[in-house]
Amino acid sequence: MVQDGVPALPGGRVLLVIGGGIAAYKCLELIRRLKERGIQVRCVLTEAAREFVTPLSVAALSVEKVYGDLFSLTDEAEMGHIRLSREADLVVVAPATANLLAKMAHGLADDLASTVLLATDKPVLVAPAMNQMMWGHPATQRNLALLQADGVATVGPNAGDMACGETGSGRMAEPAEILAAILARLGRPGGAPAGGLAGLRALVTSGPTREAIDPVRFIMNHSSGKQGHAIAGELARLGAEVTLVSGPVTLPDPPGVAVVRVETAREMLAACQAALPVDVAVCAAAVADWRPEEAPTQKIKKEAGAPPPSIRLVENPDILRTLAADGPQRPRLVVGFAAETEQVVAHAAAKLRRKNCDWILANDVAPGSGTFGGDRNAVTLLRRDAEPQSWPAGSKVEVARRLVGLIAAEFGRG
Ligand code: C5P
Repeated sequence: MVQDGVPALPGGRVLLVIGGGIAAYKCLELIRRLKERGIQVRCVLTEAAREFVTPLSVAALSVEKVYGDLFSLTDEAEMGHIRLSREADLVVVAPATANLLAKMAHGLADDLASTVLLATDKPVLVAPAMNQMMWGHPATQRNLALLQADGVATVGPNAGDMACGETGSGRMAEPAEILAAILARLGRPGGAPAGGLAGLRALVTSGPTREAIDPVRFIMNHSSGKQGHAIAGELARLGAEVTLVSGPVTLPDPPGVAVVRVETAREMLAACQAALPVDVAVCAAAVADWRPEEAPTQKIKKEAGAPPPSIRLVENPDILRTLAADGPQRPRLVVGFAAETEQVVAHAAAKLRRKNCDWILANDVAPGSGTFGGDRNAVTLLRRDAEPQSWPAGSKVEVARRLVGLIAAEFGRG
């Protein structure tokens, strides 16, 4: 089926949390449009939402069971609330009422909707809808800022006439707008034209560097490049213009990204400087701190009876520190990583200051953490003027999504 010129594609799962606002009726249209595109839609209705739309209409349009009761024995037996929160690619809250936003911002979980929102490990998109005074209230704006800092994306609200008779900002985005925001986040055609980050220039470093000892030997580390590549891919998926400077990795190039392949730290620095100016730089590469002072052009020979050669090391340039140094070319946002094996947050906080970056993602690479080379990552975000934020352990793609969501919010594109 083709609707609005967009072909239906199979796959994609949305968990739609419908809040109790007059705009809830627009969700029926949203469900219909999502289904037309082959997207699975499971719905959770708050108690208040049931005053505005009936579970029967939602079930009929979604062709799925509708959930609403946290303490339903039959629901829990068939589909526990944790599973419900995880078996989706995207969680959408529409209408996101002032009350729901407040509960989300403060981690309340007193019904199925708020519990699912607290339990989910998936990206969350909210479509706020409320009276203009409620929307403009400092409490709502504070809650919104907290949610955006947590990586929650927003669509709308729009300005206009409201059901209550007042005029102002607070009308829920139209189903077509919410649909576009969902499709963009699911990486589907028909999403926001070039993604919400169109026009943003980004530089990402990824992978290890390889420092020659001689023509056949080198110093390297275990970095796989998975985290940096996932960040570059996610930025590009949302429309940013991305240069990825990568050390030697075995990963495929992320789609839509300009990849510059390098070996050494000095080559990586030169490639990064050639990519400037950019709006945001994310340094995820595991750059070798030192390199052999000399790398003979001939293989170092093992002579019988001779002592093993000693390798004198010299310091490599610090790419992150160089990019983050104050000056006309400094990207507006510079993000670093801090791989630590102990006192992770304390060491990362010191690094944030020392390297003059804006954000740093601290990750625990202690033996057994499985982070280096693995698919998962557990990070704590440190920013200059905010409390550290520990993210739930997730895949490197999930970490990338969350980080890029925050970058989008930072540039007013969330
Ligand atoms: O000092 P440390 O290596 O722990 O710092 C990690 C952060 O600094 C990462 O973001 C890494 O990409 C960056 N870095 C760099 N150039 C170096 C060393 C680290 O860009 N020579």
